[in-house]
Amino acid sequence: MSEGIITASYVGATILFILALGGLSNQETSRRGNLFGMIGMAVALIATISSVTANLGILIAGLLIGSTIGIILAKRVQMTQMPELVAMLHSLVGLAAVLVGFANFMDPGRLQHFSGIELTIHDVETYLGILIGAITLSGSVIAFGKLSGKIGGNPLLLPARHWLNLGLLLSSIWFCVEFVEQSAAGSGTVPLLIMTGIALLFGIHMVMAIGGADMPVVVSMLNSYSGWAASATGFMLNNDLLIVTGALVGSSGAILSYIMCRAMNRKFLSVIAGGFGTTSGGASSGEEQQGEVIALEAPEVASLLLEAKEVMIIPGYGMAVAQAQHIVYEITKTLRAKKVNVRFGIHPVAGRMPGHMNVLLAEAKVPYDIVFEMDEINDDFPKVDVSIIIGANDIVNPSAQTDPNSPIAGMPVMECWKGKTTIVLKRGMATGYAGVQNPLFYKENTRMLFGDARASLDEVFKNL
Ligand code: TAP
Repeated sequence: MSEGIITASYVGATILFILALGGLSNQETSRRGNLFGMIGMAVALIATISSVTANLGILIAGLLIGSTIGIILAKRVQMTQMPELVAMLHSLVGLAAVLVGFANFMDPGRLQHFSGIELTIHDVETYLGILIGAITLSGSVIAFGKLSGKIGGNPLLLPARHWLNLGLLLSSIWFCVEFVEQSAAGSGTVPLLIMTGIALLFGIHMVMAIGGADMPVVVSMLNSYSGWAASATGFMLNNDLLIVTGALVGSSGAILSYIMCRAMNRKFLSVIAGGFGTTSGGASSGEEQQGEVIALEAPEVASLLLEAKEVMIIPGYGMAVAQAQHIVYEITKTLRAKKVNVRFGIHPVAGRMPGHMNVLLAEAKVPYDIVFEMDEINDDFPKVDVSIIIGANDIVNPSAQTDPNSPIAGMPVMECWKGKTTIVLKRGMATGYAGVQNPLFYKENTRMLFGDARASLDEVFKNL
């Protein structure tokens, strides 16, 4: 492929990526956005492969191995494991940036191609690429552990942790200066290796210090880091498309982190500094039993739904676990046919990844015009006859408003208790992701329907 065609393909791919991001910002256009992204990536890959002149065999072999692993993973992974998969994929972007950085540094032609200020710029690019890559790599592995429950959700609060972070940052800067000086003299491996170790430690410490309830911010933040790591790789490889694509991912991840912070009423810097989401704050964990709960059976729930005029469905992580979205929609159709106004209320951090519930509802073909964001419907609860909470917990926890010591204090929640009746579907009395008891279950107008959400809803549907 000629240089001109490759450049034109890169511009085309960039435009497609921008269209993809634009499409993904809205439910109605998200499928089209995804398609643009896939076409853009195909164009980018074909153009990049055809620009390679040497070692094409190795490249094709790598592509085949990578694609095979990717296809197997994507086929095997359950919808509930998507957040973990995404965290793992972020770590691979970080690993790639580290490996490319070292390969760049070890390239024997480096000192012949660059000298003086150019060599310094090249070395700083390499250093930063490895630094961001290593933080992304270790941070994402820890995030994977936290999301999959292999690592506890409580924040690790080391004494003087802010000083530790500052120390790691300052030493990274010092080693950068050392690296640039030594590199010009033909060495520099030692400061580069030490910095990699420091960055790996920093990534681990940063994510370990963040409590369970604040994990949504971490997920989007690592998303952003993986973009900057890719961008840094683009600088090292002199690949404009990778620079732009990385910057798109980096900045959209940063915007998502901001949106997540706003959704959780947190300040970005305080989340990064860590310490929220601790369950060690006395009353904060609310372990104590708060009264009796009233349990119902499926036929009673069906009658309540049939008597209602206004029904609000609030899905949470448990709906994803139970894969109950299809039966939820069957029930919705039945109730709507009986002139009951059914709406869905989606909390911004419901589930385990941004947009988790929207994806599940779209998969079940729930019409978009009855799916509302929390801000749009939270004031409507006093008019709601029945709210059904399907496997949600933290996002409907009133203690976020009433208990200043709670790990989720200040987080906006769906105020379903203001409605006439709230029905909570869950298997037992377990806490949600943040590990806090939920006073909603003990309220006078709350009823519990115990069991796997899908099995319970199947029963409700039969009774409808
Ligand atoms: P959670 O608070 O995690 O509560 C889910 C509830 O579903 C659990 O209490 C569980 O209770 C129930 N459940 C699980 N499997 C079930 C099944 N098969 N059938 C019925 N119920 C089932 O979920 P949420 O309310 O959606 O809140 C999300 C939480 O995750 C927030 O704390 C948020 O900060 C965090 N988080 C979110 C994200 C993003 S980006 N969305 C990322 C990381 C973390 P039982 O075991 O008793 O059934």
